[in-house]
Amino acid sequence: MLNEQRRAPLFEALKEHALKKPAGFHIPGHGQGRGLPAELLSLGGQALFAFDLTELPGLDDLHNPGGPIAGAQALAAKSYGADQSFFLINGTTVGIHALITALVGQGKVIIPRNAHRSVLGGLVLSGADPVYVLPGIIPEFEVDCGVTPACIRQALGLNPDTAAALAVRPNYYGIAGDLAGQVLAAHEAGIPVLVDEAHGPHLRFHHALPADAMAAGADAAVQSMHKLGGSLGQSSMLHLQGDLVDADAVAASLRLLQTTSPSYILLASLDLARRQMFLHGEELMEKALTLARDIRQKLSGIRNLRILTSDCLPEQRCELDTTKLVISVRGLGLTGYQVSGLLSGRYRIFIEMADFNNIVAVISTGTTSEDCDELADALKDITARDKLPALPPLPGTPLRYKKIMKPRDAWFAPAKKVPLAEARGRICAEAVAVYPPGVPALNPGEEITGDIYEYLQRIREMGLPCHGPSDTTLKTIKIVIE
Ligand SMILES: Cc1ncc(COP(=O)(O)O)c(C=O)c1O
Repeated sequence: MLNEQRRAPLFEALKEHALKKPAGFHIPGHGQGRGLPAELLSLGGQALFAFDLTELPGLDDLHNPGGPIAGAQALAAKSYGADQSFFLINGTTVGIHALITALVGQGKVIIPRNAHRSVLGGLVLSGADPVYVLPGIIPEFEVDCGVTPACIRQALGLNPDTAAALAVRPNYYGIAGDLAGQVLAAHEAGIPVLVDEAHGPHLRFHHALPADAMAAGADAAVQSMHKLGGSLGQSSMLHLQGDLVDADAVAASLRLLQTTSPSYILLASLDLARRQMFLHGEELMEKALTLARDIRQKLSGIRNLRILTSDCLPEQRCELDTTKLVISVRGLGLTGYQVSGLLSGRYRIFIEMADFNNIVAVISTGTTSEDCDELADALKDITARDKLPALPPLPGTPLRYKKIMKPRDAWFAPAKKVPLAEARGRICAEAVAVYPPGVPALNPGEEITGDIYEYLQRIREMGLPCHGPSDTTLKTIKIVIE
C-alpha cells in the first residue's frame, strides 16, 4: 500500500513521454512550449507558480470583472471583432453549455447531427429540443463538409418556433462550410447562430484561412484558444455580437457552470495568446501555412496516400484550413488507427487524431520543419513496408432516427443496461457514434430501430471504436425503463 502510494502514475507517464523527444502534430498547438507567447515561456519554474493566484485585491474576479480581467476580455473582444468576450477555463465545452442553457433553454435548436458531445451536454443541462440537420459527406474521405444554408431553411420551415441554430465550423478536419449563408438563413427567421468554433481561434489572423465566425456575421462563437491560438490547455474564449443574443444571460450561465477558483495561469495565457495573435498572428500563421504547404507537396506523390485538398470539397462556398493535414490511408489497406499506432510506436510521432480512413496531423505555431520531415519520412517508410490487402468498407450509419424523448428526459429517466440483442425497439438512454463520420446512430431518447440494431451488430463484429455508450464494446446498451 505504502509503496503503491509512492507512485504518481500520471506524472511518471508525462515525464516518460517528454523524454521520448516526440514529434507532435496535435493539440495544444503550442507544441510543448515552442509556440507559447514568449513572456509565458520565460516564466519557468517558481516564477510560473508565483502567478498561480486567486481573486486578490487588484487581480479582479472572473465572475464579476471590473479590473484587469475586464480589460483583458475587452481587448480580446476588439481583436476578434466581437461586442463582448468571455474567458473560459473549462474549454469550449463550458462555452457551448453556457450558450445552449442561456439562449435556447427548453426551446428548439437546430444542430448538425454529428456535433461534438459538448452539444449533447448542453441539451441535457438545459432540456433543449434538438432539430437535427445532416451535414454533407465527402465520400472519398468519409468526412463531413458542413451543413448547407438550404438545410437550415428547410429545418426552419418545419420548425418555425426554433430559438437558435448551432453550427460547427471549421470541423476537426479543417473544413469550413458556408457559415455566412447559414447566418443569412437564420437571421431571416430572426434567430441567432451559435458557432462551435473550437478549431478556429487562428482563422482571423491570416487571409489564406477561412473567415472566422464573427467576420461571417455569427451571433456567438466559442473558440478553443488552447487548440490553435497559443494558450494553455483548457483555456477558451466566447465571443458575442449583435442584438439577438443576451450577454447578461450568457454571463449568468457561465457563473453557474465555471469554477469559482479559476486558474490565473490559464487566464493569463489567454491574455498573452490574444496579444501574440493580434500582434504576430499573420507571420505565425504564414510560417505554419508554409510548413503545411511543404509537407503536403512532399506527400502528394506517394502512392496509396490521398491528401485532402480544396479540390476535394464539394462546393465553392466550402473552404479548407490547410494547417489541418488530413491523409486518407485507405489505399494502404490499413485503418487510420493502425497508421497512428505505427507512427507513435515505431517513429515516436504523435498525431492529433485518426479515424477508420484517415489520419489528421495539426500543423500549428509550435510545429517545426524537422517534425514535418520526420512525419513525411515515416509515412514514406510505412507506405513502403506496411501495405495490406484492401480494407472492408465501413458500414453506412443509418440516418433515419426516431426521437421519442428529449435528450434531457432520457438522460434522467430510470435506465438499465441490457444485452444489445434485447434492446431492439427500446428507447436508448445514451449516445452511440462511430468515427468517421461521427454521425451518431443514436442519441439519448431515440428508438433503437431494427436498422440501427443491425448496424450496431456490424460495428460490434468489426470491433470499431464507439464514442458515447457506457459499454464501448456494445455487448450491452443503456435503455430507458418504460
Ligand atoms: C468540434 C469540437 N467542439 C468542441 C470541442 C470541445 O472543446 P474543448 O476541449 O476546448 O472543451 C471539441 C474538442 O475537441 C471539438 O472538437
